[in-house]
Amino acid sequence: MTQDELKQAVARAAIEYVPQGEIIGVGTGSTANFFIDELGKIKDRIKGAVASSEATAQRLKSHGIPVFDLNDVERLSVYIDGADEITPHGAMIKGGGAALTREKIVASVADRFVCIADGSKLVGVLGAFPLPVEVIPMAQAAVARKLAALGCEARLRMKDGQPLITDNGCQILDLIGLKIDRPAEMEALINNMVGVVTVGLFAQRGADVALLGMAEGVKKMT
Ligand code: 5RP
Repeated sequence: MTQDELKQAVARAAIEYVPQGEIIGVGTGSTANFFIDELGKIKDRIKGAVASSEATAQRLKSHGIPVFDLNDVERLSVYIDGADEITPHGAMIKGGGAALTREKIVASVADRFVCIADGSKLVGVLGAFPLPVEVIPMAQAAVARKLAALGCEARLRMKDGQPLITDNGCQILDLIGLKIDRPAEMEALINNMVGVVTVGLFAQRGADVALLGMAEGVKKMT
């Protein structure tokens, strides 16, 4: 099976976690996109969705799924999203698609985080994938120096020759070479740096359920 077929398989499996008649939280990325396409097929079963990025909002709308502002929603019973890396404990690196801040916000309102990913995302220790950190642009260089002192390279993410600008008008530093043995502690440490908006570590609030696409089928991890 190709990586896309594995992503499609977990996207289909995640439909089982979609509650009837409710608003659900929806993540960002290629796996989330496959999930949105599956959601489009059962859209009459849900009230709508809260999107974790402008791209996701557009894709939901293209399927005729109503998109709600998070400020108008009190709680979500489920948030469904992909990950760049996930451990057997459900700690994740996210933000490869630059949507980490909104993803963390929407996930924080949900009772349950269902992670959908192809099996290659399962790791013993987080950090082979560059850890994204969203920063306020004027603090970018100062924050990069502090992050480099942790023993990694903090590289400004670029797009078309310019610093990438997130949906929130901020920039992304990708941390290369960080071995993350204690993800919840690292999350707190980086989040506490002045100028940091969000770190793409989802450990203090990790995944409650992970659906991982393997050659032998979808493996469920709780
Ligand atoms: C976007 C994310 C994505 O969930 C993550 O990058 C995984 O993406 P994909 O499903 O394309 O592999 O965190 O900010």
